[in-house]
Amino acid sequence: KTTCLIMAGGKGERFWPKSRTNLPKQFLNISGNKSMIQQCIDRLQNFIPIDQIFVITNELYAELIKAQIPALPFENIIIEPIGRNTAPCVGLASIIIEEKYRGSSMIVLPSDHIIKDETEFIEILKTAVSVSQLGGNLVTLGITPTYPETGYGYIESTNETIEMNNLRVYKVNQFVEKPSEDKALTYVKSGNYYWNSGIFVWRVDVLRKYIKDLMPEMHDILETMKSGFQTNERNDVIRAEFPKMPDQSIDYGIMEKAHDIYVIPCVFGWDDVGSWTALERIGNLDDSGNVIRGNTLSIDTQRCIIESNGKLIATLGVEDLIIVETDDVTLICKKDKAQEIKSLIKELKVQK
Ligand code: GDD
Ligand code: MG
Repeated sequence: KTTCLIMAGGKGERFWPKSRTNLPKQFLNISGNKSMIQQCIDRLQNFIPIDQIFVITNELYAELIKAQIPALPFENIIIEPIGRNTAPCVGLASIIIEEKYRGSSMIVLPSDHIIKDETEFIEILKTAVSVSQLGGNLVTLGITPTYPETGYGYIESTNETIEMNNLRVYKVNQFVEKPSEDKALTYVKSGNYYWNSGIFVWRVDVLRKYIKDLMPEMHDILETMKSGFQTNERNDVIRAEFPKMPDQSIDYGIMEKAHDIYVIPCVFGWDDVGSWTALERIGNLDDSGNVIRGNTLSIDTQRCIIESNGKLIATLGVEDLIIVETDDVTLICKKDKAQEIKSLIKELKVQK
């Protein structure tokens, strides 16, 4: 069997003020007319039955998930009492999935990415599942890098390949999470590095083995939880044990240290919609290079990202700005500061 875990606990801070603590990016319509997590679930239609799909999120968002994905069985929503990054998130899900679907290949998906070619995406996932079934390995989906992004993981492939479903799958030499800009630049130039898409496929028992070897402290907490589930309410056990988890991402905790990794090079119109400037890649640019939505009037305005929430936004003689208006906030930000919007949020006392 194939199962899927959708990670939906992120805060989407770089999309502030549209993305808010009580309604982050994955629950918003960023492209298209459905929310990002709804699109993520839709993509799996005809591939994974809904009762084999699990969503893991913070307790703040459990109701939102129920409302946005009514078909999802309630017990498939896994609730974290506190954010501990993606290693504990995937670890907790692995013991819950293992209970019901032992030996299944588990696809781990972020809830907030854009994928344009959905047919190709599913083909690649099927191949990744086949590779994971060989046993012992962890499978990653790699994207050809176009610039030295320091917010991504980089995957170095070797010449060692296997062929699966007519696709070439590469053995990985090393996985480097969020390198320095210098290193990222070397990687982009070298030609045998891929960006980590953040999508992983592995057999759930294989992942558990890696956790045991590489994150023993977390493994012990998972074992305690597992035995707690026998006699206590699942949520009570999680609430008691989960806060003891280390705060670490799966990329640092497992991927950088694991040895048997494969990468499948992918071209399916992937974008992780990391910040406002992503809209320039995925939205419609006007003749002056602006991405403009809603009620606006712009003259002599170049390369701006403008989103109105009803009130007219009028611009004249400006360039390279992000202007976003919501019910209670107006953001005006230079485009090259888009990654630093988090620093504004840090200073906010209320209404993040
Ligand atoms: N449930 C849950 N709990 N979900 C979480 C948590 C958590 O504590 N933290 C993050 N997530 C979700 C986010 O919503 C997102 O969908 C996904 O997990 C990845 O987390 P990010 O915080 O966005 O990771 P990143 O962008 O720094 O890096 C990852 O993604 C890159 C590609 O987008 C890494 O895997 C990189 O290697 C990769 O290149
Ligand atoms: Mg991300």
